[in-house]
Amino acid sequence: MSLTVALSKGKLLPGSEALFRRVGLPFPEGGGRRLVAPLDGLRFLFVKDMDVPTYVEYGIADCGIAGRDVLLETGSDVYEPLDLGFGRCRLVVARLRGSGFAYARASTVRVATKYPRVAAAHFLERGVSVEVVRLAGSVEIAPGLGLADCIVDVVETGRTLEENGLEPVEDVAASSARLVVNRASFHARREEVARLIRTLRSATE
Ligand code: PRP
Repeated sequence: MSLTVALSKGKLLPGSEALFRRVGLPFPEGGGRRLVAPLDGLRFLFVKDMDVPTYVEYGIADCGIAGRDVLLETGSDVYEPLDLGFGRCRLVVARLRGSGFAYARASTVRVATKYPRVAAAHFLERGVSVEVVRLAGSVEIAPGLGLADCIVDVVETGRTLEENGLEPVEDVAASSARLVVNRASFHARREEVARLIRTLRSATE
């Protein structure tokens, strides 16, 4: 039976494809449009980034590539044997530029985010009462429209913050793409999984 690999259809897709091609692993043509794609001894699942750890945790996929940001949010019980080194970004708290909003002074902070668990933990660790407004995307418009005081979101180049009049005020976590492996597969399919890890590691050293 082939190893099943869960990959994100989102921002990590080009980096994942480049990595697989660089180490000579098969990778389906077509930019992940076919959502289940068997190819040369591997089977690929192309899913939403937040769903990659779920497919791996439940053993539907033996392994996958997920951002650390996503792993922090889902808290999935998976092995994380390798930092793949691409998809580097930061999770930050950002506010309207020049708003002077300081959550230390606010009684309850309303924060819009795609990362409700990470955001809640970040503020609670600092003893700040928080109301999390969960959004599916385009989070950067929330403060300007009055939906939230600030956001917790991913920043890569900083352009989205910039173009929406926001500024980062605090780092929450650094992120990059990680290889994740199902705990049972890690043991039951030790040889194949170890080979895959070795192959991918060779490209990151
Ligand atoms: C992510 C993130 C920011 C943007 C940051 O969104 O939520 O909006 O990328 O990148 P930048 O710093 O290079 O501008 P994504 O493209 O995944 O879309 P989404 O908001 O629809 O989830």
